Amino acid sequence: MVIDAASIDDAQRAPIGLFDSGIGGLSVYLHLAQQLPNERYIYYADTLNVPYGNRESDDIESLTLKAVEWLHKQGCKLIVIACNSASAYALDTARRSYPNMPIVGLVPALKPAILASNSGHVAVLATKATLNGRLLNDVITNFANPNGTVVTKYFDPQLVPWVEAGMPLQDETAQRLRQQIQVFANEGIDHLVLGCTHYPFFKSFLLDEIAQQQLAIQVVDSGQAIAERVKQLLSESKLATAFLDKTSIRNLNTIDRTNVDIRQPLTFHATKYSDRLSALIERLLGQETILQYYSE
Ligand code: DGL
Repeated sequence: MVIDAASIDDAQRAPIGLFDSGIGGLSVYLHLAQQLPNERYIYYADTLNVPYGNRESDDIESLTLKAVEWLHKQGCKLIVIACNSASAYALDTARRSYPNMPIVGLVPALKPAILASNSGHVAVLATKATLNGRLLNDVITNFANPNGTVVTKYFDPQLVPWVEAGMPLQDETAQRLRQQIQVFANEGIDHLVLGCTHYPFFKSFLLDEIAQQQLAIQVVDSGQAIAERVKQLLSESKLATAFLDKTSIRNLNTIDRTNVDIRQPLTFHATKYSDRLSALIERLLGQETILQYYSE
């Protein structure tokens, strides 16, 4: 088969799709943008239906398939289901529906925590959906149990809404989290696994608390490993974007800022927009991100 150079080029320039129930998947995007700065990204946030964590598995599956279908229609070359809850119930079906497109899902980073734990006791913080899902429970059965590591599952239904609300420090959720860290330490837990993509946004809050309370607890998340996996898949399938110089990037951009690290724009699509949402996204991503909102 002869593949012409132009179609390879088009395929390489196609965007990477990211999906989450809300803004949590942006924590994964930040790792991707750092490791693969020449790629274009398109993000689908199902802000109309967030949170997913308390929903029934069928509901999570059908909402996720809708998002994946939308990203597929945008011509994405690879999709990251940047949501542990959605991956738990829809990753297999999504892969079966689009067998020619690489789809990366998220599972809480329990394995590295188990390997690094000295106390043999770790905690996974995640949504109810993720904690009950097969992907995580397979890791517990096949890895934690044979290794003799105790895994405590922790779920607070207010954590995702708290992040979506911008993590106000005076909120009861913040207070509960402070107290919970102490409980984890008293139980001998030495690693906390952030098993929801919303949670890395309060990682620095946790680390500050851990330092203030002088506790020996490490905090682990999956963002870096996912970015490495995406990089590897793109290179294996020869789909990585060739290096674009700053002039060609600028030509693709609608915003031309000079004193920033110019990179490809992130196209953001939400199923429900609000002023609060845009302010939060801009706060979480920092000023260097070139953001475009998608409207139909
Ligand atoms: N970021 C999603 C996850 O990783 C949040 C789930 C939710 O919407 O409850 O599970």
